Amino acid sequence: MATEIKRVATTPFDDQRPGTSGLRKRVRTFQQPHYLENFVHAIFASLDDCRGKTLVLGGDGRYYNREAAQIIIRMAAAAGFGRILVGRDGLLSTPAASVVIRKRRALGGIVLSASHNPGGPDGDFGIKFNVANGGPAPERFTTACYEASRTISEYRILDAPDVDLSRLGEHTLGDTVVEVMDPVADYAALMEDLFDFDRIRSLFEAGAMRIRFDAMHAITGPYAREILEHRLGAGPNTVINGIPREDFGGGHPDPNLTYARALVEMVDADKSIQLGAASDGDGDRNMILGHRFFVTPSDSLAVMAANAHHIPGYRSGLAGVARSMPTSQAVDRVAEHLGIECFETPTGWKYFGNLLDAGRATLCGEESFGTSSNHIREKDGLWAVLFWLNLLAVKGESVARIVGNHWRAFGRNFYSRHDYEEVDANRAHAMVEGLRARLAGLPGQTAGGLRVATADDFAYTDPVDGEVAEHQGIRILFDDGSRIVFRLSGTGTAGATVRVYLERYEPDPEHQGLDTQTALADLIAYAREVADLKTVTGMERPTVIT
Ligand code: G1P
Ligand code: ZN
Repeated sequence: MATEIKRVATTPFDDQRPGTSGLRKRVRTFQQPHYLENFVHAIFASLDDCRGKTLVLGGDGRYYNREAAQIIIRMAAAAGFGRILVGRDGLLSTPAASVVIRKRRALGGIVLSASHNPGGPDGDFGIKFNVANGGPAPERFTTACYEASRTISEYRILDAPDVDLSRLGEHTLGDTVVEVMDPVADYAALMEDLFDFDRIRSLFEAGAMRIRFDAMHAITGPYAREILEHRLGAGPNTVINGIPREDFGGGHPDPNLTYARALVEMVDADKSIQLGAASDGDGDRNMILGHRFFVTPSDSLAVMAANAHHIPGYRSGLAGVARSMPTSQAVDRVAEHLGIECFETPTGWKYFGNLLDAGRATLCGEESFGTSSNHIREKDGLWAVLFWLNLLAVKGESVARIVGNHWRAFGRNFYSRHDYEEVDANRAHAMVEGLRARLAGLPGQTAGGLRVATADDFAYTDPVDGEVAEHQGIRILFDDGSRIVFRLSGTGTAGATVRVYLERYEPDPEHQGLDTQTALADLIAYAREVADLKTVTGMERPTVIT
């Protein structure tokens, strides 16, 4: 096919600085002429040399995924990539992209997703780059992208027709091979290596286990159907909302108690369902439910760490664990008990990459419904569900009992995150700066019976490469180990989102049955007062509580 590289003149956009997880904007922003192209050029310009290398490409199927995939294929061919591995129909979940990058030794991969943000023409779109280890690009790479986006004057794109992405197999585009691949196969094979599929299958076949998985009309539908329904024999109605839609069926594909309400009601109403689970837009988040029981992601990480030896893929033990700073300290106690290292990193999966690569951490987690292990370099929604499923199969106990026993052994970390969304950005930034300026004056203040011991602005020095990340959240630490953390979201697309993280430790089993918000009431009141949240946000209460 005759193909020619076109050079297209362009001018910089000033808003292409990647956030916590890639560049995320309204669809309409991405649809502006040259907007996507400029950023893709910036990615390629920040790579050492793409000539002859392999690029992985796929997305969560949201609106604009199709058009964007075709543009990126033509630009990647013009940049000289030798092979572009694309998921069929331009689809790949975030964890599956990480699997493929690693397995096929690609230079990196582009994932088209705005994660859990709503999709559709009025929703959000996003693009993120993962490096050769399969993980999110580190800060120095995203900074280089931003700088390249500030000076761009031209990009290159192949003048060629669309590639038929519905047909598996190889297509040639100039000197580049475009390989359309099954988005599920490599991922499912890896899951079979890690978990005891035979044991889980036998329980399903015996009718001894029932589960529900809500794919929220997002990318995990095809993955969950193949793995849960076909390979594990969980039954035909196991996966709900399993067909990916460009607008996620009009919903908000974020697996939490607010947005996955229908699943929660379904599991609470039917005692015979032992496990309810959901994943987000691009398949990297997870929510775990038992009958009338919600497992906080922080507890999920701790329970996983304490029980990893029951799971085939982790039978030889954990090298260490890592959690993002705002995630509860529940896993720290497990690490102490196991005598392994526990790392506290800034928010965002990219900070786990070095620890995983260096073999210092095996399990990682974030309070924001993200958990995963060293099997890839992304968080992994279905992996977490399979981990719990395997655990249920081994223990023969309910989710509630497993967690209850964990609390009895290690104590309970009551935990909640309060989000105030679409807050005026200037006021939100002023609030954080105000707290920063007052840090020294906070010790000694009281919240109910608790006393502030220290307060700081979290900074992290990567133990592997020494890179420093500053201003990662305001921490107020109380003398009994309770904490309040304030930070602003780095993934929102409208105004600012203020996140308040609250945690209190309860060692006494007699008091572990309290309602979470009640247990945290003193901390909640103090947080609202110390940051003057009412004035800053104009809201009486948070928009989302998880
Ligand atoms: C949020 C979560 C964070 C997660 C990220 C990407 O980022 O808080 O833990 O890694 O989404 O899924 P934030 O909006 O808080 O910057
Ligand atoms: Zn996600």
